[in-house]
Amino acid sequence: MRILVTGGAGYIGSHMVKLLGERGYEVLTVDNLSEGNPWAVLYGDLRVVDLLNYKALEEVFLEFKPEAVIHFAAKVKVPESVRKPLLYYENNFVGTLNLLQAMQRAGTKYLVFSSTAALYGIPQRIPVKEEDPTEPINPYGWSKLFAERAIRDFSSVSGISYAILRYFNVAGADPEGKIGQVSKEPTHLILRAVKVATGQIPYLEVFGTDYPTPDGTCIRDFVHVVDLCQAHISALDYLQKGGKSDIFNIGYGRGYSVLEVIQRVKEVSGVDFKVVYANRREGDPPALVADNTKAKEVLKWQPKYDDLSFIIETALNWEKSYIHCQ
Ligand SMILES: NC(=O)c1ccc[n+]([C@@H]2O[C@H](COP(=O)([O-])OP(=O)(O)OC[C@H]3O[C@@H](n4cnc5c(N)ncnc54)[C@H](O)[C@@H]3O)[C@@H](O)[C@H]2O)c1
Repeated sequence: MRILVTGGAGYIGSHMVKLLGERGYEVLTVDNLSEGNPWAVLYGDLRVVDLLNYKALEEVFLEFKPEAVIHFAAKVKVPESVRKPLLYYENNFVGTLNLLQAMQRAGTKYLVFSSTAALYGIPQRIPVKEEDPTEPINPYGWSKLFAERAIRDFSSVSGISYAILRYFNVAGADPEGKIGQVSKEPTHLILRAVKVATGQIPYLEVFGTDYPTPDGTCIRDFVHVVDLCQAHISALDYLQKGGKSDIFNIGYGRGYSVLEVIQRVKEVSGVDFKVVYANRREGDPPALVADNTKAKEVLKWQPKYDDLSFIIETALNWEKSYIHCQ
């Protein structure tokens, strides 16, 4: 099967390209390299194309004629989306519209879309189910919700089948250590924590200690990046077998508090690093945990790495090796 991966040079996309390559899929990456790195694309060709450049995108589609697209390309920084909403709507929403049009031109049948648990805003219940209300609280979340809507509407007239995957907190790195998360301004908890543990950042901030949770810090559902990528392969199999277009939460269904994660990073790394307690950040829900029943039952998703220590260990190993490449 020929698969075009947008954003395949980025963190999650590069793990996806590796998994697809290992499984024998024919893969092509489209990325504008605004965040991604060419060295991270381990299988297939990389085309440096911006989704906003429709002509160039269409050319790639007509040449490669993908049967499926996995669409990761997006701007992903929540605070930046608050400062520059139009940039996010253009890149994430208009970019998706261009992609849908190019898919139709090339006769591409299947789409797996990277969505986010940020759509749920401040959830009314935990764990969160797919049918729960979607009320994003920042332009990043809205840009993803608009893209979801466009995909759903276009699917009914174009015949494109889709699986929308709403990711919870993605973390960890390739267990073989070939690729991992690279970010100039890291905001993700586990990434920041391993950067502190390896001496690249002086201390770790905890934002808010007065949430209505057992230890007062936020609770999140961390999913290993390779298990997340496996969910995309399960989704493609499902669509290929005629499965109906649908939305799926991807998380383990178990939450850890910020303090629990910090304690575990200290244990795994053996470094007792400095932690600084700060005020709450605007827009952080107290808890965000997936109900993943649908992904397990319908997509037959079988995660392998549901182990916080393993997630941290792979992130830490990557960080240690990446320091030496810089
Ligand atoms: N990391 C997480 O925890 C998380 C959680 C929920 C959802 N997601 C979603 O997963 C996807 C991948 O996220 P990531 O963490 O790997 O981010 P990332 O920034 O590492 O990867 C995104 C990639 O897309 C490329 N890109 C951006 N805009 C583009 C455009 N207009 N044209 C072509 N390429 C473009 C970037 O260069 C980058 O390589 C995103 O859609 C994001 O919204 C991520």
